[in-house]
Amino acid sequence: MERPDSSFEARVGTRFEVQPSAAIAAPPDSPDETSDRRRADREYDMLFGKKQSLVGLDIGSHTIKAVELEGDSSKNHRLVRWGISAPLAEAIVDGEIMDRQLVTDAISNLLESRSIKSRNVVAAVSGRAVIVKKITMNKLSAEDAQQAVYWEAEQHVPYDINDVSLDFEILGPSPNDPKQMQVLLVAAKKDMVMSFSDLMREAGLQPVIVDVDSFAAQNALQANYDFGPEEVVAILNVGSEITNINIIQGEVPYFTKDLQVGGNSFIEAAQRKFNLSQSEAAAAVRGESGGGLEMASVIEQVCESIATALERAQVYLRTANEAGALSRIMLCGGASLTPGVADFLNRRFGVPADIANPLSRIGYDPSLFAGQDVMKVAPFLTVGIGLALRRVGDKR
Ligand SMILES: Nc1ncnc2c1ncn2[C@@H]1O[C@H](COP(=O)(O)OP(=O)(O)OP(=O)(O)O)[C@@H](O)[C@H]1O
Ligand SMILES: [Mg+2]
Repeated sequence: MERPDSSFEARVGTRFEVQPSAAIAAPPDSPDETSDRRRADREYDMLFGKKQSLVGLDIGSHTIKAVELEGDSSKNHRLVRWGISAPLAEAIVDGEIMDRQLVTDAISNLLESRSIKSRNVVAAVSGRAVIVKKITMNKLSAEDAQQAVYWEAEQHVPYDINDVSLDFEILGPSPNDPKQMQVLLVAAKKDMVMSFSDLMREAGLQPVIVDVDSFAAQNALQANYDFGPEEVVAILNVGSEITNINIIQGEVPYFTKDLQVGGNSFIEAAQRKFNLSQSEAAAAVRGESGGGLEMASVIEQVCESIATALERAQVYLRTANEAGALSRIMLCGGASLTPGVADFLNRRFGVPADIANPLSRIGYDPSLFAGQDVMKVAPFLTVGIGLALRRVGDKR
């Protein structure tokens, strides 16, 4: 097998602080690049040291969200612009972009309509395209671990190792064997990241960092809340098609999983139960049907699958002796606004379950939300904010 090569440096933009950068930087193409492989490797070259204004771009299956923040690495961030596109209508299905033109047009229109001028974007691939796995291996220094993780990854990643880019974070000694350490491995298929970066370029943008949805949500919440080192927080990003689960403790993601559950599941369940059209059902899910419909059981039934996944995660973390019992649940994503979801989880787990405010410590001019309830908009922007908070080289 080849030695770890430059592709190893080609890391998925995770939120990790410990290990070398998470940035996948994409410099402009040069004409002498012939092979896809070389081009893919170039995708991951890094652009350290450049100060740039970065736009967080969250390409969801329902809408695209753009966030522009002002501020540097200090904590004083300010929201200067934000926008949410019109619904994309089937342009992205099961995480696959079915209609590139529609998506690139939607991105361009969104940035233009919100006067977002910066072309440097931080975007996130969905967890579907990414493998996040915790592995146990012999204790090594961070430097030696780099090569060893590469070899280990071969056993854990179901793709040719040359076709993926890897990132890792040493979590600490294994609780079961002090001679071993736990390592969080993140792998993404290069062709997927490349195709995603191409999409940005087709929209006239420069992809600077590629991150992962659930880590971006974590990044946003950590910037706005002080979680105690012992607190075990389940972050649930409830989108349209997907709910990203990310259980963290002390800023470390201990468990991540993407469930095929989201706003669409609520809407479809309501359609089936009450024989409604899609838009009638969507209104009912938002609590706008004027009463009359017994929505609670519909909502709870869908929430049940989220609760089951959370329960399984807890059992797994307990048996593996990794993280303690859940301390709180933080919700984000558009469908987290569905009446009854937070209450259901609160009752089910006996811990606080709240819709997070990713703008609680980020300043903004209230006129940016003229006529809108910030708490009804902010949940949609969580991933975008987490992305906009990223800086090239910030994980060094
Ligand atoms: N007020 C509301 N109450 C409940 N659900 C809502 C409300 N407004 C929008 N939704 C639902 O939120 C979902 C969109 O949320 P979000 O923008 O987070 O998803 P997305 O990022 O586009 O999708 P995904 O992450 O699954 O690809 C849709 O299913 C929509 O029906
Ligand atoms: Mg989303």
